[in-house]
Amino acid sequence: MSGTKLYEGKAKILFTTNDPNILLSRYKDDATAFNALKKGTIANKGEMNCAIASHIFQYLEIQGLATHFIKQVSPNEMQVAAVKILPIEVVVRNIAAGSICKRLGLEQGQPLKQPLVEFFYKNDDLGDPLITDAHVAMLDLATPEQAAQLKQLALDINQHLQTFFDRCNLILVDFKVEIGVDVKGKLLLADEISPDTCRLWDKAIADPSDRIMDKDRFRQDLGNIAEAYQEVMKRVLAA
Ligand SMILES: Nc1ncnc2c1ncn2[C@@H]1O[C@H](COP(=O)(O)OP(=O)(O)O)[C@@H](O)[C@H]1O
Ligand SMILES: [Mg+2]
Repeated sequence: MSGTKLYEGKAKILFTTNDPNILLSRYKDDATAFNALKKGTIANKGEMNCAIASHIFQYLEIQGLATHFIKQVSPNEMQVAAVKILPIEVVVRNIAAGSICKRLGLEQGQPLKQPLVEFFYKNDDLGDPLITDAHVAMLDLATPEQAAQLKQLALDINQHLQTFFDRCNLILVDFKVEIGVDVKGKLLLADEISPDTCRLWDKAIADPSDRIMDKDRFRQDLGNIAEAYQEVMKRVLAA
């Protein structure tokens, strides 16, 4: 049973429930890229991403990480803890791909010496710009303690996800997470973890286009988009 619509985003809709501390997150088939300049749909993505995210949130909980996940309640809906999302998109990179290649002149596919954590200001009007700790403090996006916690949390999540995706025969190139503060002031991993928010390469495929198993297939019009998500789901649910 869903209450009133709180917020409709690009990939999900949030509804209230009869418990003020619990929200319903409904995953959509809509896909966007390049700050919504490119729009489309991916057949069955809502159900696939909901299944993938549910499985991964449960895995991370077992590993001792606090997430907003409560339970999956339908093929494309999950109950989550209501949190105040910090307006910071936290990106962790293991291999250079996407915007960092353009920004710093790195070669696509170049392994990084160690995982890199980056902060982006979650602000669609500004195109989610890269920011530093100084900007986080200046704009009051988080306290300095929270900013330090965010970095450590992101690195911990990276470790667990790398282990997990390795079992799926997938390389975790990079990913984006959103962190929220719950009613008790505790930081929780929120939003979603899916092929929309992670770059995943098939370990067994060498071709740089063929190995892509994530939203880059949509961004770059590589075809077989839903098929790639389907394959990721199959491997994630079996891991
Ligand atoms: N547990 C939560 N509590 C409150 N808001 C959340 C929670 N999890 C995710 N959100 C927010 O829900 C919104 C909907 O998701 P999405 O469709 O991905 O939106 P967007 O278009 O902003 O990326 C996002 O703004 C996200 O930050
Ligand atoms: Mg989103």
